[in-house]
Amino acid sequence: MSPFLLTRTLPEDATEAALRADVLKGLSHTPKTLPPKWFYDAHGSELFEQITELPEYYPTRAEREILVARSGEIAAATGARTLVELGSGSSEKTRFLLDALTGLHTYVPVDVSESALTQAGHALIAQRPELSVHALIADFTAGLSLPDTPGPRLLAFLGGTIGNLLPAERAAFLSSVRALLAPGDALLLGTDLVKDEDVLVRAYDDAAGVTAAFNKNVLTVVNRELDADFDPGAFDHVALWDAENEWIEMRLRSRTDQTVKVPALDLAVDFAAGEELHTEISAKFRKDGVREELSAAGLELAHWWTDGEGRFALSLSVVR
Ligand code: SAH
Ligand code: AVI
Repeated sequence: MSPFLLTRTLPEDATEAALRADVLKGLSHTPKTLPPKWFYDAHGSELFEQITELPEYYPTRAEREILVARSGEIAAATGARTLVELGSGSSEKTRFLLDALTGLHTYVPVDVSESALTQAGHALIAQRPELSVHALIADFTAGLSLPDTPGPRLLAFLGGTIGNLLPAERAAFLSSVRALLAPGDALLLGTDLVKDEDVLVRAYDDAAGVTAAFNKNVLTVVNRELDADFDPGAFDHVALWDAENEWIEMRLRSRTDQTVKVPALDLAVDFAAGEELHTEISAKFRKDGVREELSAAGLELAHWWTDGEGRFALSLSVVR
């Protein structure tokens, strides 16, 4: 049987403290905001998996197509013995990399969602008894430290999750990733690409309402963890394209004038009818922008692969 180790890098109460701090800051801010990492309790992780199968949500299928076509090249270019994956979720697409990386010793999935890590970890050890899996419950924006495993390391950040960070957050994140890498290590980055506004908006406002449920799930998380009394039915899901910033924004629009209580923070928050709570950005990229952001962090874009329709890209940077 392969070893499966699950390590929590922060004590459980640190997660609660981080949520309290984010909710206090975000609901006191104008406009009101909540960071997207709080979508992903067990139910939110399950809703995200449903999103990946929606007809309108193309990024997962497009990235899978690239991984199917290019995992052999990625394996040849990196010769990785450790695969670290940030925001690994179900690790579903990762199996193409795991199959191609024939010399792989350890897989390190990193996620804030304990349920996603546990489910993915158990599926993996059943399918790949020879692989050592060291899962980390950690926030990839908060000073990650990695287990001591054999190099070279391939650090994968798939799904376009980098687009959920603001530009300044992305710059800090990419610099912190660069600092984790030694010569011979590599970064594999998935980025969704700028495209027709209708296609983009539909991907974040699907007909079945799964993305709306995912968006509202953040309110349920705050209710459960901080005893708040958000009524998810009193908010509408909003997805819009910001053409200037080239990102999708998800918001929750209050249907009425209402006051939400958050007793754990001794807070009462007024929402005016029509007021919007900002819950996520999902930035879309162009090749030059990705190259520049990598370069600013000391990383050089060595390979750029897209799916056949040019909707999504994977880029590979190998540290010299
Ligand atoms: N990589 C998978 C999952 C993408 S969903 C795919 O491509 O399908 C985004 C994942 O990132 C979720 O599993 C979520 O729990 C995780 N996540 C979001 N913010 C995070 C953070 N700050 N630190 C660690 N994991 C995070
Ligand atoms: C995880 N991340 C890349 C998804 C995205 O497309 O920005 C999260 C998501 N939000 C709504 N649908 C999917």
